[in-house]
Amino acid sequence: MPHKFPNDFLWGASISAHQTEGAYKSDGKGLTVQDTRVRDNHEIADFTIASDHYHHYKEDIQLLAELGVQIFRFSISWARIFPNGRGEVNQAGLDHYQDVINECLQHNIQPIITLNHFDLPQTLEDIGGWSNRETVDAFKDYAITVFKAYGQQVKYWLTINEPNVMLLVDQKILGKQIPIDEKYQQFHHLMIAEKYAFKLCHELVENGQIGPVPNISLVYPATSKPLDNQASLYFNSVRNWAYLDFSCFGRYNAVFSDYLKQKGVTITFAPDDEALMKENFPDFIAMNFYTTVTVEKPTDKNNMTEGISDQQSEDIMDWGFYKGVTNPYLKKNQFNWTIDPDGFKTTLQTLYDRYHLPIIITENGLGAKDDLTEDGKVHDPYRIDYLKQHIEQCLEAIEAGVDLFGYSPWSAIDLISVHEGISKRYGFIYVDRTEKELKQLARYKKDSFYWYQKLIQTNEIPPERR
Ligand code: BG6
Repeated sequence: MPHKFPNDFLWGASISAHQTEGAYKSDGKGLTVQDTRVRDNHEIADFTIASDHYHHYKEDIQLLAELGVQIFRFSISWARIFPNGRGEVNQAGLDHYQDVINECLQHNIQPIITLNHFDLPQTLEDIGGWSNRETVDAFKDYAITVFKAYGQQVKYWLTINEPNVMLLVDQKILGKQIPIDEKYQQFHHLMIAEKYAFKLCHELVENGQIGPVPNISLVYPATSKPLDNQASLYFNSVRNWAYLDFSCFGRYNAVFSDYLKQKGVTITFAPDDEALMKENFPDFIAMNFYTTVTVEKPTDKNNMTEGISDQQSEDIMDWGFYKGVTNPYLKKNQFNWTIDPDGFKTTLQTLYDRYHLPIIITENGLGAKDDLTEDGKVHDPYRIDYLKQHIEQCLEAIEAGVDLFGYSPWSAIDLISVHEGISKRYGFIYVDRTEKELKQLARYKKDSFYWYQKLIQTNEIPPERR
């Protein structure tokens, strides 16, 4: 077999609305929790202008066409369509995404749309956000509206981005800590909202395909001590399988249920939830992956502080269950995230083994500080290295039997990181701005752009760097 990707493999690039669009109050858009979020660091860029993709989308899609991608993953800002989260539709918002979709299709790029990526409309947050069942009803109306508006043209849909990371890293993503009982009632509502999205997509979008989009990272035990293995069992369930078992099997994961019991958390079900869970399933799994996690069983309560400071850093902890530790076998990036391409393959194999559904990677990439040279170049060999190592593992996973049908890394253009500003760049396309200085927001192709372009043209990993 040639060491090559299949001809119909889908290459893409991904972004989210609030991290790129800016125009946070333009053309009738309502505020979202990302616009109002309390920040712990005021020195970094916020989302008000971001990469100004709202005004640059034509140029950005033109660049993506030049890159050669077949798919473009972006999210719709719910508050552009429903400024108050529900009620009256904002036609300008609907028109905007129609224009974006048309632009993609004109360039033979298929949109793959995330319904919601961390940016709940603020008016829904004001009634309790995902803690309030009414938010699920509002989400249903929003999903119906966008499926009807764009379903003729858009066939790939994603539900709610990384509900697992959003709940685990609430402080960093939402700017507040959610009390544990509320957090897992939110889990139930988010997952029920997702079930409605599966159902509605299948009813309203002819030949539509929809998948969940969690951030999946295998959790390793720190040692072969039986209790460290138990710690990894619990964190694997709380972080990964609780979500996908709900999406793909229509049930609460048993280890997760025990965790909830030990935490004294009771979930309230609505009358139709049980049936909805068991009757609606995804067509594929969209997986976001950055690195793996390593945990031990905590032994010293005094050494524990509450909460998780970052989605991939090692300081996850939950007394009685697990505590993150540094994996001594892995290198780290500039932002303290470990790098584990072998773990990527193992995560893919584990996922396919558990769920037997086609998989697409919708995020994977390296956050790094890039420099724009005076002659308009960005030399980012570190990003090429990261991508190369991870794409190699995708190919190995396919050769090992995993049904992986696409790879859409993070990110298409530079965007504002969840909590580390614009200095932590992920894009193939450099956006010229600093944390505080907007400059012209001009776009420049990085070395990784040309490397990825060559990969897409040949379906083979280019041996050399540009
Ligand atoms: C994913 C999110 O968890 O990680 C993205 O879906 C995010 O929105 C990405 O940007 C990288 O994380 P960060 O913290 O570097 O922005």
